[in-house]
Amino acid sequence: MKVAQFSRIGFIMAAAGSAVGLGNIWKFPYMTGMYGGGAFVLVYLITITFIGFSVMVAEMLIGALGRRDTVGSFERLAPPNQKAWKYAGFMGFNGLIIMTFYSVVIGWIFYYLFAVFSGLPTSTKEAKTIFDTLVGQQAGIQIFWHTVSVIIVGYIVYRGIKGGIEKFNLILMPSLLIILFGLLGYAATLDGFHKAWNFMFASDWSKINSEAIVRAVGHSFFTLSLGMGAIMTYAASLPKQASITKTAFIVTFMDTLIALVAGLVIYSFLFHEGAPAAQGPGLVFISLPVVLSNFGTLGTVLALLFFLALAFAGLTSAISLVEPVVQYLIDRFDWSRTKAVVVTSLVYWIVGIGALLSYTKAWGKLFSVGGKPLFDILEFATDSILLPLGGLLIAIFVGYVLPKTKVYAALEHEMGEKYFAVWRFSIRYIAPVALIFMMLNLLGILKI
Ligand code: PFF
Repeated sequence: MKVAQFSRIGFIMAAAGSAVGLGNIWKFPYMTGMYGGGAFVLVYLITITFIGFSVMVAEMLIGALGRRDTVGSFERLAPPNQKAWKYAGFMGFNGLIIMTFYSVVIGWIFYYLFAVFSGLPTSTKEAKTIFDTLVGQQAGIQIFWHTVSVIIVGYIVYRGIKGGIEKFNLILMPSLLIILFGLLGYAATLDGFHKAWNFMFASDWSKINSEAIVRAVGHSFFTLSLGMGAIMTYAASLPKQASITKTAFIVTFMDTLIALVAGLVIYSFLFHEGAPAAQGPGLVFISLPVVLSNFGTLGTVLALLFFLALAFAGLTSAISLVEPVVQYLIDRFDWSRTKAVVVTSLVYWIVGIGALLSYTKAWGKLFSVGGKPLFDILEFATDSILLPLGGLLIAIFVGYVLPKTKVYAALEHEMGEKYFAVWRFSIRYIAPVALIFMMLNLLGILKI
């Protein structure tokens, strides 16, 4: 099987495009608010540094050595008597589960991009009504924008690695960076900036609990796109001369930086207007527009830029969520790219409608299980269970199943003897122990 290759910069942008997404700009800020600020940020940073980065190197390595779709790469690299490892490759299908709610949120962003033009809400009550009405009552509008998102993502993926994924990332990622850093520059001039800084970086451990820790670990996998084969699938098209370690470092660094910048921007605006931090998923859709309405026309421009950045971030991640399954269907069943994209898109489009209906008043009950909306179930299942499980399988495979000589030959010349030993220790012991610990905690077997 021959897969197209990225250029070196194309690969970095595509991998960073995958990592930097709604997780950074929408989810990280509101989770930080919900779980108390600095202590949550610190747990997140520690996980990224000691587990996330190592797992990213491991995941890229499987793709770069395997050079196939996720199932094919595991199968090819596993020793002859352990071919069952190929089933680990089905982690690629998690992307479709994520897409069911991810695409709905991209739809909300599209809606807001247009709503900004008809004026920003001036009170939280008004903003909350707009958001709650959209999510709770306007199923048709949501289905429309969700469909637009499915079509755009499908089109980019249909264009393939070079003409679609690489090209769009090379345009969207720099645009996103420019907008976000522009907003940061402006936010830094506000009174709220200092407060935002303290909120995010002064650790108040009294607010942290086991749930916050589990969510921070889960989120660090989600934000780095780890544990579901997105990075692995892209790495199958890694140019031969590219350094895995360097790329993983750049992607991890960019992803973390952008989450922190997004948090600082949003909280600077919020605190400037004296708004509270803990608001949940509605944070960027409710509080931010109200706060920005106080800035007059400038506020409209800022809101537009913000939602544009959010849309770009979401789209570049979404394509990486769909590509693994598309690649699998092409490799395995010899499907045309068109057929693979259409079938894949239809699946998450339909389940996505179920997810958005689960938040509506009219259909909520039907699409809930045990009182939990399908949307929340899908989100929790992926970010807190499936991605860490995928990460664990990757760590075990690279740490224990792949022959050390092979791993050494691929990475030692990039890392040097000493760092290779540190990385291997992390992948063999720190990552698996932390992930198992987290999963036991989640199952309620072990409470911290
Ligand atoms: N990393 C993306 C974000 O932060 O929004 C989400 C994501 C993309 C998760 C791709 C997993 C993945 F494979």
